[in-house]
Amino acid sequence: MRKPIIAGNWKLNKTPHEAILLTDELKRELVDVEGVDIVLCPPFIDLADVKEALIDHNIALGAQNLFWEDAGAFTGEISAPMLKDLGVAYVIIGHSERRQYFHETNETVSKRLRAALKHGLNPIVCVGENLAQREANQTFDIIKDHCEGSLKGLSAEEMKKVVLAYEPVWAIGTGKTATPAQAQEVHAFIRQWLARTFDEGTAGHVRIQYGGSVTPDNIAALMAQPDIDGALVGGASLKAPSFAAIVKGAQK
Ligand code: PGA
Repeated sequence: MRKPIIAGNWKLNKTPHEAILLTDELKRELVDVEGVDIVLCPPFIDLADVKEALIDHNIALGAQNLFWEDAGAFTGEISAPMLKDLGVAYVIIGHSERRQYFHETNETVSKRLRAALKHGLNPIVCVGENLAQREANQTFDIIKDHCEGSLKGLSAEEMKKVVLAYEPVWAIGTGKTATPAQAQEVHAFIRQWLARTFDEGTAGHVRIQYGGSVTPDNIAALMAQPDIDGALVGGASLKAPSFAAIVKGAQK
């Protein structure tokens, strides 16, 4: 039985002051929730304040990216040891916005993933097709390419530490959620790919989140699908009531 995992991806939102207010509100809303892993992924600059606000709480902290080198002359970058030292537990890698706007490729995703695993961070690796690819019936080819390229060379033991997020690009921030059936179809494909590439045990262990316009209204139907193990939430994670309702909706 895979434990559901709901992560809030705040993207480029919330100043440190706003981040503390949102975290305090979330703590109150989520204090009694059990059976769901909850992760907040604020911008780098908010991590320390959010970490402090989360002391003695069951909500985990995640970053939205990391650089693959540990240290050195890489102006503007943040490394895995830095995140680890701060108490960050998760890190999103290869989000479609990084692939689209910041030239992220499977190769750089793979390097970041290695760095995260080396330093004991739990990676959330994103894969997903865009609208043109879906309309051209290339969805499974793209998912296979993202999985093969991003997860290349991992052992089964390493793979078990990774959370995957299927995020169809056409559903992100558009209000157009994939239907539960559309999402399930791709999640099942990813799980079969895991079974072929690693083994059945690994495929059964890895959690696969869905992401793309998840709301309190659609979370239950998504979570009812056998291969959907949680959600990566953007817009609806920026307000405490909607994020809390999604977390509660994910309690299986
Ligand atoms: P959204 O974003 O929930 O605003 O569609 C999801 C994501 O990009 O992770």
